[in-house]
Amino acid sequence: MGAPSGRQEVMGMTTNDLTKPTPAAEGTTEPVVQLKGVGKLYGNVRALEGIDLDVRPGQVTCVLGDNGAGKSTLIKIISGLHQHDEGEYVVDGKPVRLHNPREALNLGIATVYQDLATVPLMPVWRNFFLGSELTRGPWPIRRLDIERMKETTQTELSAMGIHLDNLEQPIGTLSGGQRQSVAIARAVYFGARVLILDEPTAALGVKQSGVVLKYIAAARERGLGVIFITHNPHHAYMVGDHFSVLRLGALELNAARDDVSLEELTNHMAGGTELAALKHELAQVRGVDVEELPEVVNSPST
Ligand SMILES: Nc1ncnc2c1ncn2[C@@H]1O[C@H](COP(=O)(O)OP(=O)(O)OP(=O)(O)O)[C@@H](O)[C@H]1O
Ligand SMILES: [Mg+2]
Repeated sequence: MGAPSGRQEVMGMTTNDLTKPTPAAEGTTEPVVQLKGVGKLYGNVRALEGIDLDVRPGQVTCVLGDNGAGKSTLIKIISGLHQHDEGEYVVDGKPVRLHNPREALNLGIATVYQDLATVPLMPVWRNFFLGSELTRGPWPIRRLDIERMKETTQTELSAMGIHLDNLEQPIGTLSGGQRQSVAIARAVYFGARVLILDEPTAALGVKQSGVVLKYIAAARERGLGVIFITHNPHHAYMVGDHFSVLRLGALELNAARDDVSLEELTNHMAGGTELAALKHELAQVRGVDVEELPEVVNSPST
């Protein structure tokens, strides 16, 4: 089965369902976050080199790459967990050096990690406000404003198109996709301008991945700049406006949606030359009909 290029049906939805036409061409909105030639060394292990990345409001920037390519290192730098050793990290046009995730949050850069840092046995609304609870009344009789927290959670989830029957249910009873969605809505409510999602669909099945992709698109609709880390070129192409493929710590591809097809993206992820070599090796193995294998597409940009 040859992979058709361009807009196509993935997981029962067409990419048109999720991908709005980009309102303004790239370059017309100012990036919130920019990396310029960023490099990172762990001792003498080079994790990143010469990384350029722009994150713009209302756009999804996908960061793809194989295991060990440097994806987590890249988001750790952006989220303030690690510092870069080379190049510049720029927020709102000014070079910054962030020392912890709190500094990143203060600049509106929020990260949703895969483990989500939720308390599974607590209700959905408690998790929504975890660490930032609303209170009422003056000290010393100040207490939790439970009603307002429940109402706000309900309103905020609805605004993102998330409908849960019961906010009292422990968050641990929600599906993985629903929990990711609540985490996204939470970041939006607490004022994120840039939302970093570290492989949010990695552990999810097809349907649940679709749920998360929908809320990534919803976050973009609300004007956030989203950095979506994934191994999966199909997921990336469903929602992405820009694609950055990392390979051994360097950018192998850095292209706007108009300049790359799903086929090319898949091929970059698979490593076109490696696939060709593998095909050659498979040809030596009895029982594998290499003529039946899909063609390896040559990348246009290299
Ligand atoms: N704390 C660290 N100390 C030393 N080396 C590290 C550290 N963190 C990452 N590395 C190395 O840096 C490189 C990039 O790792 P990174 O975790 O960023 O990759 P990744 O793309 O997130 O991979 P995966 O898909 O497996 O999560 C790897 O060679 C890794 O071994
Ligand atoms: Mg990683």
